[in-house]
Amino acid sequence: MTDIHESAARLEEHIIDMRRRLHRHPELGCEETETTAFIVSELREIGIPVITFDDITGCIAVIEGGKPGKTVMLRADIDALPITEQTGLPFASETPGVMHACGHDCHTAMLLGAARVLWEMREELRGTVKLIFQMGEEIGRKSEEYVTRGALKGVDAIFGMHVWPSMPIGTFNFEDGERMACSDRFTIQIHGCAAHGSAPHLGHDAILAAAAAVMALQSIPSRQNNPLDSLVVTVGMMNGGTKQNILADHVELVGTVRAFNRDFRNSMPERIRTVVQNTVQAYGCTADCDYYFGPSPLINDDPDLVRIARHAAARVLGEEAYRSSQKVTGAEDFSVYMEHIPGVYGYLGIRNPEKGIDCGNHHPCFLVDEDVLVKGAEIYVRFALDYLTETSGEG
Ligand code: NI
Repeated sequence: MTDIHESAARLEEHIIDMRRRLHRHPELGCEETETTAFIVSELREIGIPVITFDDITGCIAVIEGGKPGKTVMLRADIDALPITEQTGLPFASETPGVMHACGHDCHTAMLLGAARVLWEMREELRGTVKLIFQMGEEIGRKSEEYVTRGALKGVDAIFGMHVWPSMPIGTFNFEDGERMACSDRFTIQIHGCAAHGSAPHLGHDAILAAAAAVMALQSIPSRQNNPLDSLVVTVGMMNGGTKQNILADHVELVGTVRAFNRDFRNSMPERIRTVVQNTVQAYGCTADCDYYFGPSPLINDDPDLVRIARHAAARVLGEEAYRSSQKVTGAEDFSVYMEHIPGVYGYLGIRNPEKGIDCGNHHPCFLVDEDVLVKGAEIYVRFALDYLTETSGEG
């Protein structure tokens, strides 16, 4: 039997090198051509078959085990953010305005490390491990691009994790239930009727109607939603008007919805439309409402997968390293895979104030304690191995 810990430990320097190389050359979501080329070349050098796509970035590696069994997929996201790095690291981004400020460089390097270990031990595997290097996580539902191209065909379960700056290095979280919210977008066009600003009775003021609509929208979380369920409705943009003395005939509102309850979330387009259209009608205006369903809520609702993930992480970091963690209203398009197959998602702590690593993600000074990298690679391997062993009936 392969000593997984030993195999991963031998790769630590290589994993850190890969992470630093990726960090130095970040690419924005769906533009990860160099990143994909790097991943593919590393996988091909190991000898692992890789599936690439003509029209999208990212790739999928396939490791067939020596024995029959299920198929498990491990996922890393590979994209960076439109941020100018201010860390001062020797391997800081060389691309102005683009930075790996969410740790996806770490996810990629960890999964590449895991790929090498899994390939070395492939004769021992009971089933198949697929590794998906996914583009554009920061954009919305880009994970769906792989689903529509058949990436999940024959896959029985999927596993993912995120390096997490609010948790200390050496800790982890894989927890049942609601973990992350959906991230949906709504756009509202409010139509009024222009008039001179000094004679508002001659028109229909779209700005006044929009202001009332913004206020009324907050009655959805406060009066329609069960207070025991978390729900956020935020109007982040309000555009309208041309001059101080002209009654605006058009205002656009753009906002986001963050919800965990799937049914309530699905009812949001109708609720927004009803509240907005009835409100603006009182001001003599009309409204058109559009709703875009982004990543769905991420809910760990397969207790067996959560247990296997937690056990795998505990083998690497210790039982005492487990931390319960509150759900967050941020989103993660890993949830799109979980619309189709069972999955589990968790967090790996990376905060280390003693090393000056104490900054949130999506920040120009975001840092990662690289001690996490080899651990993360080992957790990927152990999850795959444990899942395949357990589901083959040999566990
Ligand atoms: Ni991220």
